[in-house]
Amino acid sequence: MKKELQQKIQQLKQEKDIAILAHSYQSVDILEIADQTGDSFKLSVVAKDMPQSTVVLCGVRFMAETVKILSPQKTVLLANADAGCPMAEQMDKDLVEQLKAAYPGYTVAAYINTTAELKTVCDVCVTSSSAVKILSAMPEKDILFIPDKNLGSFIQKQLPEKNIVLWDGYCPVHNAVTIDECKAAISLHPNAKVLMHPELPAEVLKFADVIGSTADIIRYALDSEEDCIIGTENAVRNYLAQMRPDKQFYLLSKGLICPDMRMTTLTDVYHAMLGQGGQKICLDEEVRLKAKHAIDEMIRLGR
Ligand code: 13P
Ligand code: SF4
Repeated sequence: MKKELQQKIQQLKQEKDIAILAHSYQSVDILEIADQTGDSFKLSVVAKDMPQSTVVLCGVRFMAETVKILSPQKTVLLANADAGCPMAEQMDKDLVEQLKAAYPGYTVAAYINTTAELKTVCDVCVTSSSAVKILSAMPEKDILFIPDKNLGSFIQKQLPEKNIVLWDGYCPVHNAVTIDECKAAISLHPNAKVLMHPELPAEVLKFADVIGSTADIIRYALDSEEDCIIGTENAVRNYLAQMRPDKQFYLLSKGLICPDMRMTTLTDVYHAMLGQGGQKICLDEEVRLKAKHAIDEMIRLGR
């Protein structure tokens, strides 16, 4: 059944000139049919250089919006219309305007896990893989970082020369991991390297051997010879176990499951390709251009 559906999807890709992009948190059956897989940084930039006229995004809404911002001529479909990112919805534009008024003169840096509308009032975007590099390359010292307090506090520690003000946002999935869960995983697997995503709380990150984005974690886990404890969405551990069956990959926490990232199924992808499901991403041109400015800055400073 799965193979049959995958074959139909492969055929439709050719017939309808469609590229499939999948975030690394997607299930292995979706990663297998994707033209490109990766973290949010890679997915945001890769589509504009792909020849296909339509992109089906398997991930969450802000990722599909980012593809549309950079590739307005393409039809961009979010494979499952309900897949949002709760962190991206924790702040709206008015709240950012209020913060800007409270911190006049500060440069606003937004995690890419934000809505397109919110990006219109920000100066620059960052992703977890590029945040430290970008903020370090910015000439400005005073920075308002939104919305993720955990990624923000990780950046603060790397860049003590900057004055970074944080907001109180967080990823409800990563933020729920506890110190006790870390201690338990480490005491069960004392020789494994502990790899963690910077969306985890600061008190948990203290137990990490390596802190990095989804792509950084995957790269380290595939290249190193040590067994690893995976401190990000548990789909990553499943993918790694498939890619390196000679090594052991352990979960940091059984709770690291993002319901939004898990929503998309192969059937959703198939229906979106047929025009029978998913959601076409449409952005007001003024919103797109203003949001694009923050993403262009991310690309420029991240080079
Ligand atoms: P990455 O930037 O590592 O892809 O993370 C995106 C995300 O939503 C993590 O929860
Ligand atoms: Fe958003 Fe967290 Fe899910 Fe990533 S894991 S999409 S940050 S809710």
